[in-house]
Amino acid sequence: MINLNSSPVQLSLRQPDDWHLHLRDDHLLKVTVPHSARIFRRAVIMPNLSPPITSIEAARNYRQRILNQVPTQLSFTPLMTAYLTDSLPPEVLEQGYSDGVFFAAKLYPANATTNSSLGVSDISLIDSLLETMEKINMPLLVHGEVTDPGVDVFDREAVFIERYLQPMLKRFSNLRVVLEHITTKNAVEFVETSGFNLAATITPHHLHINRNAMFLGGFRSDFYCLPIAKREDHRLALRDAATSGKPCFFLGTDSAPHVRSQKENACGCAGIFNAPFALESYAEVFDEEGKIDRLEAFASEYGPLFYGLPPNTNTIKLRRNEHVIPRNYSFKDHDLKPESFVPFHAGETLKWFAEAE
Ligand code: NCD
Ligand code: ZN
Repeated sequence: MINLNSSPVQLSLRQPDDWHLHLRDDHLLKVTVPHSARIFRRAVIMPNLSPPITSIEAARNYRQRILNQVPTQLSFTPLMTAYLTDSLPPEVLEQGYSDGVFFAAKLYPANATTNSSLGVSDISLIDSLLETMEKINMPLLVHGEVTDPGVDVFDREAVFIERYLQPMLKRFSNLRVVLEHITTKNAVEFVETSGFNLAATITPHHLHINRNAMFLGGFRSDFYCLPIAKREDHRLALRDAATSGKPCFFLGTDSAPHVRSQKENACGCAGIFNAPFALESYAEVFDEEGKIDRLEAFASEYGPLFYGLPPNTNTIKLRRNEHVIPRNYSFKDHDLKPESFVPFHAGETLKWFAEAE
């Protein structure tokens, strides 16, 4: 390896996986799937479609629609999740998990985020689901925000942890839980000191931006996502956590594309489309922190370790090679009208470039 300013110019990494991904459906899969499959070998696919994935058959069919869009020269395994509702029968989870269709189940507090209106209205109503998941060792993935309108939007994660997550973990102490896309130092501290089977995913955007990004010179919907970006001290805590080398923190992009007309709207959708250069975005952070040597464990090892899966054996190449991120990706919508997705880092220059070896 050659050194340039004490930082390597090229790295070989075990191929990473994305432990939290929204691919959407139908014609959008043609746009979204190739971006993720370019770099990631496996991805946990979020079930918040409209209608959501609440049956084994729906998950199986959705998985097939995703696989149909994987470019032929690439291997990409979608790991499907079930969307928990107040009335989902535990037998569906048990059967779907033992059939190898459901990899995990996702808890959305009702109305917390995109397509979550059919989510769980009260966590105390899903005891039998949680009991079943604990019994069969099925992982629970949590969108950790309260929806109580009396709680400030910037406090929703911290309040969720205190009000719901901590009591839930005490009651279901053998349940494997991932607190998804953490955004606060409260979450970092809670996860790293928790004695339970708890881990957290961290997105690239929460490592790069704080809440100011949404208001720079006007309202910028491209930086609006949920959980919403917080103050700078929280971003710094997340950067420390991601680069800490602690196995309880691993990669989950939460890439969540919304077409331009849905982002620039009186009621704009939450979500950042970071899939095209997600690994490069993380690499930038690890490099800036002087911890590029810890990227591989975060991106490719701690996720499989938590989930009890073998890490990937093939490798990808990460080169120092400046490149400009496209301003948008355009395509035609259902009615053949032009639409586009604006990616995270649009128009910016990133220093690292990843490619298959
Ligand atoms: C996600 C989406 O659009 O599906 N949006 C987001 O801002 N992250 C849902 C979610 O993960 O909250
Ligand atoms: Zn998400």
